[in-house]
Amino acid sequence: MAVLIDGKAIAQKVKEEVAAGSEALVREYGEAARPNMTLIVVGSDAVSRKLVSMKAADCEAAGIIPTVITLSESTTEEKLLRLIERLNEDEDVRAILCQLPLPEHISTKKVLAAIAPDKDVDGFSARIDSDDYDVAACTPAAVMRMLRESGVDVAGKHCVVVGRSNIVGKPMAIQLLLNDATVTVCHSKTRDIAEHTKRADVLIVAVGRPRFVTGDMVKDGAVVIDVGMNYIDGRPVGDVAFDEVEPKASMITPVPGGVGPMTRAGLLVNALTLAERKAK
Ligand code: GUN
Repeated sequence: MAVLIDGKAIAQKVKEEVAAGSEALVREYGEAARPNMTLIVVGSDAVSRKLVSMKAADCEAAGIIPTVITLSESTTEEKLLRLIERLNEDEDVRAILCQLPLPEHISTKKVLAAIAPDKDVDGFSARIDSDDYDVAACTPAAVMRMLRESGVDVAGKHCVVVGRSNIVGKPMAIQLLLNDATVTVCHSKTRDIAEHTKRADVLIVAVGRPRFVTGDMVKDGAVVIDVGMNYIDGRPVGDVAFDEVEPKASMITPVPGGVGPMTRAGLLVNALTLAERKAK
């Protein structure tokens, strides 16, 4: 029986910390220093809009002022880039988020690159050669926090990341390395993924395929972090076959209630960090 890593409880703690941090910042530097976040959502995708409204509600609960800008599906790339440029230049805007995915006619790469690094609340532009990797990509940062809160020190451990996306897999590998883990990254071209996952002390899965990691792919006593969020018949399921893996793992994150709530909390941490930097 594995210990369940309760993302909801840890996220609540993080939110309270950020709320306290926001108030401390305002006490020291005045109301004008209060963290804020401009959230851009393009198109009418219901999931994206819902996520953005949840992120905005999280902001309010943490003393961060949200502004949601909703653009139509037919918005041009040029118009979106101009908006970002204007927000970059606006002294009062502390943090910018552009919800993904974007409509096909807009280049995600160009749009993300356009967001000024000192306002990039997603942490997508965190540089691996930077000493202060403190505005880190939210989801990997959330995973690191969950591991720390669960008493898992990754230093010297073999951590296997399955998935190499720009949002999760790649920055996850970097954050693990920065914490002295030995890291293997597996992806769609990896031969015999199970050979690697079976050697993981800490296994982090972010491939976006339901039940991708099965019981036979996991070592006894491994710590398993499931970043996946897939829907089957409207029910959320992770990338890990929980029923098979849980009996073998020493600790595991559930889906839902694991990494998901923590990812959004990570955004709040970054918003506070950006506002603190600006104030100081
Ligand atoms: N869409 C799905 N996940 C994310 C995320 O972490 N950031 C942004 N901006 N959009 C997303």
